[in-house]
Amino acid sequence: MNKNIDYLKSHYENYNYPEPVQDIDKELIEKNIVYYDDPTYNWHKIFPEKAFSKNKISILVAGCGTEQAAIIAKLSPQHEVIGIDLSSNSLKHQKKLIDKHKIYNLKLICNDFREVKFDKKFDLIISTGVIHHLENPGSALEYFYNNLKDDGAISLMVYGDKSTHATNELRKLFFKLNFKQDKESIHSIRKIYNKINPSHPGVIHSKNSSELKFDSGIVDHILHQSEHFYSIRALNELLNNNKLIIKNFIDSRIKSLTKFFYDDEVLLQKIRELNYVDQLELGQILNWDDKKISLICCKDTYIKNSLIMSPLDLDNIYICTRTGCNYKMNNAFIKINLDTNEEFTFSTIIKSEYVNTWQEVFAGKKKLKYLFDLYNSKEKIQVRKILTILVENVFVDVSFHPITAPRSIK
Ligand SMILES: C[S@@+](CC[C@H](N)C(=O)[O-])C[C@H]1O[C@@H](n2cnc3c(N)ncnc32)[C@H](O)[C@@H]1O
Repeated sequence: MNKNIDYLKSHYENYNYPEPVQDIDKELIEKNIVYYDDPTYNWHKIFPEKAFSKNKISILVAGCGTEQAAIIAKLSPQHEVIGIDLSSNSLKHQKKLIDKHKIYNLKLICNDFREVKFDKKFDLIISTGVIHHLENPGSALEYFYNNLKDDGAISLMVYGDKSTHATNELRKLFFKLNFKQDKESIHSIRKIYNKINPSHPGVIHSKNSSELKFDSGIVDHILHQSEHFYSIRALNELLNNNKLIIKNFIDSRIKSLTKFFYDDEVLLQKIRELNYVDQLELGQILNWDDKKISLICCKDTYIKNSLIMSPLDLDNIYICTRTGCNYKMNNAFIKINLDTNEEFTFSTIIKSEYVNTWQEVFAGKKKLKYLFDLYNSKEKIQVRKILTILVENVFVDVSFHPITAPRSIK
């Protein structure tokens, strides 16, 4: 054990994270709450290059906390799941979930995951909110690379360095005052936050998250003593140094850039000519919504399957509505309310006789080509333009195969 691991173990033994669900059926399934890393529902995001399959895959949840591995195992009972965490108290809760829901496809291990050796490789490694706490996050990526199949995927979430900046400035106060991870400090933090001007960006940032409601959230969010925060450029470099590349983004918070320029052809062209890392960097800066950078990675030898690195052949992809966003469509326009509270309206010619096709396309059932072929060459240009913006900005999900999870557009 090293100092960093000793610290993390004691932190998460005392303050288990996250505040866990007690009943997966009642709190998630019956409320239709989607779990992003569920490979059944979100197969097309994790494996856009593979047709959906019900065959068993092997999943490692590295740093699984109080609930994550149990939820994934319950939602995808056909798969084999291993969850590893340093905190035995966090794993105790997952054991409760195993008993309650009679989960048979999950094995839990209490250890530093980097110490655990397997005689097989994984199809999917999930590690969200974990590697940025390690002294050397690259050591985790190296471990993931070595334990991942050649066509496997890694679902990773790390903190961005932009919107977290103000909270990190506020944290200076708490460290100066020598606040500890204890009840008294947690109480004082709640009191101080209530007195700071509500328009302080650090307060806005924290109010937007549910984390301040729970003691363990305050400790994780404000009193953590081992964290790295990433620019997308630095994260991309770290991944590349470990022979990994970005395959896909879970949401639009970083990747979304051309939405700022779609009504200005000249600027749009200039933006599209930038290399992809410059584009991502500008996306992170303009969106300023990077508390969590959630992405799917793969080995760099698998580059042709990256949705962000290889040019997409628009005709031959499938799209579907993205969970958490609302879409409305009529003869004249498509209106999208994103999970970032932004609203976009694109005027387009849908024509009432084509509505069904648009709906089928937005449900991931038909290739985009099917839609383009309905229109004459002039109309096609307009429809393509809009679909390009939707795809580039992750306003829709994309796959190279039909999408199986139920999706719809009104
Ligand atoms: C912020 S929590 C995230 C939990 C979970 N991934 C989620 O998203 O709900 C971080 C978890 O990672 C665990 N962790 C951190 N470093 C670890 C390591 N090297 N090996 C195993 N677990 C680790 C901690 O004990 C803690 O439970």
